[in-house]
Amino acid sequence: MSDESQELPVFTTAADMRAWVRKQKKSGRKVALVPTMGYLHDGHLSLVKAALERADVVVASIYVNPTQFAAHEDFDVYPRNPDDDRAMLKAAGAHAVFEPESLYVAVPGAGEGSNVVGRETQHPDSHETYVTVERLQKPLCGGSRPHFFRGVCTVVTKLFHICEPDVAVFGRKDYQQWRVISRMVRDLDFAVEVVGMPICREADGLAMSRGNS
Ligand code: PAF
Repeated sequence: MSDESQELPVFTTAADMRAWVRKQKKSGRKVALVPTMGYLHDGHLSLVKAALERADVVVASIYVNPTQFAAHEDFDVYPRNPDDDRAMLKAAGAHAVFEPESLYVAVPGAGEGSNVVGRETQHPDSHETYVTVERLQKPLCGGSRPHFFRGVCTVVTKLFHICEPDVAVFGRKDYQQWRVISRMVRDLDFAVEVVGMPICREADGLAMSRGNS
């Protein structure tokens, strides 16, 4: 559904998002996607800028993905600020926002090691299919957060299927994530160019990050 009261279209269903993207493509426009979990900062906006340089229209997604949080990680208190996010995206020149309510509902037992088990288990629309990049997801962040990249890859796959981007822009601050997604796109023949942008830093050199703020 698009909120017409806002100049920046905000879609909350896969069907509406996909219909809008297909209309853009039918008009010959190249589409870029910037996937985010919201609570945006200048680092995200630099990804929107990079996307605008590579495509005619830019969709930014805002979705706090439950499948990449483990039970002891604070999904429920993850910071959210959708109004500010939308205003920032509009000012940065994005053309649409995809803000799905729920993209992934796990069945009992399917999300071992992840806090999706027990939280969203009895839902009639529950899923049990995941995407994993077997080797690259294991070291580094995957060592301390074994559930993490499976959650990222599964939800990014869904975002790619729904938004059908020609280009998707990620930050190299999350270096392993960028490499894992690039590998997934290569291995599964997604027709998406994955771009990894250099780290954006604060004046004192600290990487811009939700965590650091
Ligand atoms: O980097 C993030 O914010 C997330 O991991 C992503 C890529 C949006 C997937 O949920």
